[in-house]
Amino acid sequence: MREELFADRVQPDTPSRLEGLFPQMDFDDAITFTAGSPAEDLFPKEAMQQAYLDAIAAEGAHTFQYHTISGPEELRSRLAVRAQQKMAIEGVDADNVMLTAGGQQGIDLIAKLMLNKGDGLVVEAPTYVGALSSFDMYEPTYYEVQLESDGMDVDQLEETLKAHNNIKLVYTVADFHNPGGVTMSVEKRKRLVELANEYDFMILEDTPYRDLRYVGESLPSIKHFDTEDRVIFLSSFSKILMPTLRLGWMVAPKAVIKQLYKLKEAADLEVPNITASAVNQFLAKNDLDKHIEGLIKAYSGKRQAMFDALAKEMPEGVEATCPEGGFFTWVTVPDFINTTDLLYDVVTPKAHIAYVPSKNFYAFKDHTNGMRINFTGLTPDQIADGMHRLGGVLKEEMSKASLKTAQ
Ligand SMILES: Cc1ncc(COP(=O)(O)O)c(C=O)c1O
Repeated sequence: MREELFADRVQPDTPSRLEGLFPQMDFDDAITFTAGSPAEDLFPKEAMQQAYLDAIAAEGAHTFQYHTISGPEELRSRLAVRAQQKMAIEGVDADNVMLTAGGQQGIDLIAKLMLNKGDGLVVEAPTYVGALSSFDMYEPTYYEVQLESDGMDVDQLEETLKAHNNIKLVYTVADFHNPGGVTMSVEKRKRLVELANEYDFMILEDTPYRDLRYVGESLPSIKHFDTEDRVIFLSSFSKILMPTLRLGWMVAPKAVIKQLYKLKEAADLEVPNITASAVNQFLAKNDLDKHIEGLIKAYSGKRQAMFDALAKEMPEGVEATCPEGGFFTWVTVPDFINTTDLLYDVVTPKAHIAYVPSKNFYAFKDHTNGMRINFTGLTPDQIADGMHRLGGVLKEEMSKASLKTAQ
């Protein structure tokens, strides 16, 4: 094998950003807060099984044939209606909706559409690690904008835009941020669109957790405020149905979708018809919103268990975000604690728990005192136990540090 023949973007000696993200633990009492996985016991297994059967019954052998790049029009129409009703995105029809292999493929295709090597790309700090792994492949120039409790710092964004005229794309996870847990305010959503118009860039609004709001009122999407076709709204069935469907969907201007189809065709020819048809059947015969209500009920309890445990177990000086929805809370520890070292040296081997350390969520991997904690994949008892163990480790680290300072 001759690695030097590989394209520059591969960088064989650099591990993938997703490699080693979820350390494996063989301990019987292991509790892991790492995954972004929905709870398996909430999957609508029987209904989805029936939906696959219905899809096959409706089309017979043709179900398994090659189909079209765009996938079933009926499904795209349903999603266009959902975009209008739930996301406040007006004036869209089936042809504004593109189906993708998970939201992840949507991110990748949009990056491929927009970014030449060196082009400016703004990401939140921190941001979704899977997006960084896609973006890396297009070798952009990253500009990080801090994430605040009400979303990205739009003043810092404007300063960045003034200083750099190569910025083409801003990527944001506006609802129940992964990993930050925060939600962008309405004011910031509007301002972001105004900045896009003024400084001429596109916005990728990535929002797979949007339906999973546990408290407060739903906010209009950023796309709702779009006046110049600059916002691409991206969603997914992974968190509200099942990740293995690998079915994402975006709402975008038709001219954008036309170009994205060229890129998708080159990557994988078409949407798997069996899955898209099954999801269409599922939506025809089941009430998706009722199913989501069930998820919200279950996840609300886990979220509360996480807040209670954090309040009880974390020492002073440790802060956590208060997500109104989604899967994650972001914990910040004093900056003398390196959360990557702590994970591998102490937390995993001794406390038998795991989180994802902050460095993974930064374009430049240079942030060392945070951690992403998932609360949807565990029972309230596991959350309480795991946070007790984490709190114990942090207390010990902090008292070691204060002893050192006292000496
Ligand atoms: C913010 C965000 N975007 C996109 C994805 C990709 O999800 P999928 O490809 O399963 O739709 C995830 C998954 O965790 C995510 O958290």
